Amino acid sequence: MNKENNKIHIAIFASGAGSNAQKIIDYFKNHSHVSIALIVCNKPEAGVLTIAAKEVIPTLLIEKERFFRGDAYIDILKEYQISFIVLAGFLWKIPQALVVAYPDKIVNIHPALLPKYGGKGMYGHFVHEAVIANAEKESGITIHFVNENFDEGTHIFQATCPVLPDDTPDSLAERIHKLEHTHFPKVIESVL
Ligand code: GAR
Repeated sequence: MNKENNKIHIAIFASGAGSNAQKIIDYFKNHSHVSIALIVCNKPEAGVLTIAAKEVIPTLLIEKERFFRGDAYIDILKEYQISFIVLAGFLWKIPQALVVAYPDKIVNIHPALLPKYGGKGMYGHFVHEAVIANAEKESGITIHFVNENFDEGTHIFQATCPVLPDDTPDSLAERIHKLEHTHFPKVIESVL
């Protein structure tokens, strides 16, 4: 077996710009026992695909029918020997078949302090808009295991940041992104 085959193979699922994916890729580059083996994405125009091309990481572009009513691409994940899945800005719900195939092996990052501001439709800027509309003094990030319900799995880690009186959803998003980039790769490593 060569060195790559001995490593834990991670798939990163992402639908967007991919700034978290980039930080995770950077963190695990040349890591002794972890390899980012696949980027899974549901949007052909997503920035994360450009990152994957630059980093020479294989990509899998998925479509709804097969993900939710087919085999959920489990065979392909197995082909890449994926044993751990990281959701980094992935906006589709994870189908039960995938949760069952990867029990306690899927983690998600959410840009708020769950259980507040979670659930269907609560993603990205919608979260920050709601936090500001409710005049919260504090927000943060939650990293949690994934079960078949949106944002409801066991919490692994939370970190907080202030919400300032003159914050806009964009300025708050920037603060939250910094928190995510600081903590997410290390928390993944600790779970592994
Ligand atoms: C991140 O802030 C992540 O927490 C959020 O999407 C953003 C993706 O940014 N995820 C959710 O809202 C999930 N409900 P990125 O593409 O730059 O990593």
